[in-house]
Amino acid sequence: MAPVDFVIKFGGSAITHKELPLTPNLEVIRRMALELSEGIKPGKRLVLIHGGGSFGHYEALKYLKDNQISDPLGIAAVRGSMLALTKIITDSFLATGLPVFAITPSSCIILEDGKFNCAKFFLEPVERCLDGGLIPMLGGDVVFDRSGSTRILSGDTLAQQLALNLDAGMLAFGTDVDGIMINGQLVHKVALEEIAKYSKMIGSRAGDVTGGMAGKVREIGNYLSKGGKHALIFNATKPLLLKKLLLGEKVEGTYIG
Ligand code: IPE
Repeated sequence: MAPVDFVIKFGGSAITHKELPLTPNLEVIRRMALELSEGIKPGKRLVLIHGGGSFGHYEALKYLKDNQISDPLGIAAVRGSMLALTKIITDSFLATGLPVFAITPSSCIILEDGKFNCAKFFLEPVERCLDGGLIPMLGGDVVFDRSGSTRILSGDTLAQQLALNLDAGMLAFGTDVDGIMINGQLVHKVALEEIAKYSKMIGSRAGDVTGGMAGKVREIGNYLSKGGKHALIFNATKPLLLKKLLLGEKVEGTYIG
């Protein structure tokens, strides 16, 4: 299969109001839709991932114990909240003329012992979308594990796995901060060997069940150590960065690798 140009994850902190339960940040979602439609060059292959923010995390926090959800109502509530967010993003992107096609991870992924290395990942729908000129979009999700448990799969993990499997030219994480910040300063570039150091220096955010910025940096480390090409963390709430990224221009943010 032809490689993918971009795998871009939109963090929940950018596309929702994280402190307000079940509240999308429509301004950011609509602007991203516009920048995507203006920035994608013909023939470019793009996979989108979105996080949970005040949808998935809000519900997951109510039910999560030892990284698992066992209450059937909790499992269904997390799925339902992600479905609602996916629908909001899909509607906004479609309205801008983007052929976005939402794919449900829990319907094509089974975990093994809590890890992604993966009892099953039925990737073909994503590949078919790309071949058909669609933009596949997947969200973080509540997913089943072959052991019988049910867990949260973060969009970060999903993004790096898709980027690896689809041989992406760029794995980019759009968040609500400019990149890796140390003592208030943006770190513009992190080498592969520095990743462990930086992920220790960065704290995790309250209300985030999947690891926040430190988790993101670890996912990127995993991605690059397995042959991934380029990774970037940028601020998706700042106008025009997404468009610049798609146009192949340098973006303010942290480049890793
Ligand atoms: C979380 O996905 C998904 C659920 C809680 C169901 P992410 O971990 O990718 O979400 P954000 O980007 O941190 O909000």
